[in-house]
Amino acid sequence: MTSPHAGPLIVGSGIAGLYVALRCRELGLRPTLVTKSRLEESNTRYAQGGIAAAISPDDSVQLHLADTNRAGYGLVDRSAAKILTSEAPARIADLVRYGVPFDTVEGRIAVGREAAHSRARILHAGGDATGLSIEETLRRRALAEGIETRERTVLRRLGRGRDGGIEATLTRDDGGEREEVEGRFVVLATGGAGSLFRHSSNPSIATGDGVAIAFRAGARLSDMEFIQFHPTTFFRPGAPRFLITEAIRGEGALVVNEEGERFLPRYHPDAELAPRDVVTRAIRAEMVRTHSDHVYLDATRIPRDQLYTRFPTICRFLSGYALDPSRDRIPVTPAAHYMIGGVTTDLEGRTSLPGLWACGEVASTGVHGANRLASNSLLEGLVFGERVVRHLLHPGGGGPGPPDRVLRVRDPPRSSRSANEREAADAVRRILWDGVGIVRESRGLRAAVVALDQWRGRTEPRDRSALPGPAANASLTAGLIARAALAREESRGAHYRSDFPHSVPAWRLHLSLERATTR
Ligand code: SIN
Repeated sequence: MTSPHAGPLIVGSGIAGLYVALRCRELGLRPTLVTKSRLEESNTRYAQGGIAAAISPDDSVQLHLADTNRAGYGLVDRSAAKILTSEAPARIADLVRYGVPFDTVEGRIAVGREAAHSRARILHAGGDATGLSIEETLRRRALAEGIETRERTVLRRLGRGRDGGIEATLTRDDGGEREEVEGRFVVLATGGAGSLFRHSSNPSIATGDGVAIAFRAGARLSDMEFIQFHPTTFFRPGAPRFLITEAIRGEGALVVNEEGERFLPRYHPDAELAPRDVVTRAIRAEMVRTHSDHVYLDATRIPRDQLYTRFPTICRFLSGYALDPSRDRIPVTPAAHYMIGGVTTDLEGRTSLPGLWACGEVASTGVHGANRLASNSLLEGLVFGERVVRHLLHPGGGGPGPPDRVLRVRDPPRSSRSANEREAADAVRRILWDGVGIVRESRGLRAAVVALDQWRGRTEPRDRSALPGPAANASLTAGLIARAALAREESRGAHYRSDFPHSVPAWRLHLSLERATTR
């Protein structure tokens, strides 16, 4: 079935997708929002820490900008970061206008501290339920505004439409009929890829399919090697890797090893408030040193009332495991958390494919450099979402500038052996975690590239008119992460290579990936 599409087609229902849909509606466009799962399911919902913005009297846009730049290890796109930090207060005002119930103290929005921020500037709602509050508020508002939303509707392919516009192929996730939607604007807001790793703080739907679909259609990607690992997710064999926000360290929790010893001061002068990549690697090193699969967060020095008011979601979660963080140490371990790279965009969210915009975690503006500053991600979805909408109103040419360096990636040969979806997805998660994890080196990366290509060969349909499924997308996105990580022969920010442990000036560039065209 082919249907023309009058307004923008927005794919994804996290903060970026919902906000873009709302703003489109406010500014007179008729958006349709589709999501592969339920409207409420996205990474946004699970964001605890909050959203960064320089709104306090002792803070400034310049300080927020300086912290963002410092966290990014020389790779932050200065213009993007300037936009992010200077437009933050206006986007927070939008959230307040939509009704997001930020926590307050004496009538003013309260702000907390997180690692690598020089000021308290993290806004939160419902204590540690910030993402949930934002998601619920925007979703309810979108439904109240009568925005057309379609759940369990999966983007399967992007291509050129007959009229030169963009064509999106959608199906129902129950394998229902294909629908070809032709239009002038598609906005990808499909989120990240954390769940491609065996251990992840993300919900299971965060599998990087937007990246794979855009790449197959010819869009350029960049910074795919930079996967941010969160240092502290709950550890218990068989339990989900539930995020324990770093805001808890901002409130005074310490990280201790099996012997109860505080070890982070040995690794960095800022100890618990050191940059996220530093804390992650220090925890991993300590786990190796002590032959343990976890360390502990010790929050017992935080007054009980403060703990239960500020972190109700975490306290509730822990009580399910008979843990009371005011008394008990919390077992934690690092896990994949955030995809810093993605589909390359300019500052208006334009990708290299005419008609395709991207914003939020799926997009790569260069704003995070090599290491995202905590709580800049929800903000990114809003700030660049707004710029996408403004550009949709007056679209012009343009798009991302020339790449710094490009890796052209060939499709692997299709295998005659096909794999089932579950088997392939499990293999991808194992391969990425083992070969492309917190500490990487060339042998493991090469093996991962080969193995992921094989899985891709076994999961891409042999009939080119057939639509690739989730496992083909997973093995493609994972293979691109592995290739980029293999190519970057240095360590920088979230990308750490034990065989190239230092940053190299020649690598102070963004690595792009493009699909090699076959003749
Ligand atoms: C956290 O709450 O620790 C995560 C926040 C973020 O990833 O920005």
